[in-house]
Amino acid sequence: MYDFTPIPGQPKSALYRDLAEAALAITRGEPDGVANMANCAALLAEFLPDLNWAGFYRMVGGALVLGPFAGRPACIRIALGQGVCGAAAATGQTQLVPDVHAFPGHIACDAASRSELVVPVRRNGTVIAVIDLDSPVLARFDAEDAAGIEALAAAIADRI
Ligand code: SME
Repeated sequence: MYDFTPIPGQPKSALYRDLAEAALAITRGEPDGVANMANCAALLAEFLPDLNWAGFYRMVGGALVLGPFAGRPACIRIALGQGVCGAAAATGQTQLVPDVHAFPGHIACDAASRSELVVPVRRNGTVIAVIDLDSPVLARFDAEDAAGIEALAAAIADRI
């Protein structure tokens, strides 16, 4: 049995350190990227409060294609440059969106989403996927969340 649970009330720095450690532990020695993304999506949903969607889009044939996630069914393909995910993949830059209604071209997969954080996952300098987090809470994510997810993305880039 796996028992990776966050310690209630701990500061974000410790939460993201524990999340990255759990992700590295659960993916260690497992070569299947889908299995590893699935467990990482489950960990994101387990560790981070106030999310309504957490998961991966993968770069496949020059577009983003839905990967393992926790949440409601979502749009399957996103062109580079489209929506928050497409912007992250096209620019290679983290997209921290406090109010999705104010983001031109935001793709609403779940009408409940109010804020979003999308972090590119790079392997050898190339964007291979993005990690997408959605929240029903306005301005749910801050710079510490972005740094924490960027650290996670770097840690698991060779395992997905
Ligand atoms: N909102 C995203 C689409 C993916 S869903 O949030 C799961 C976007 O604008 O790219």
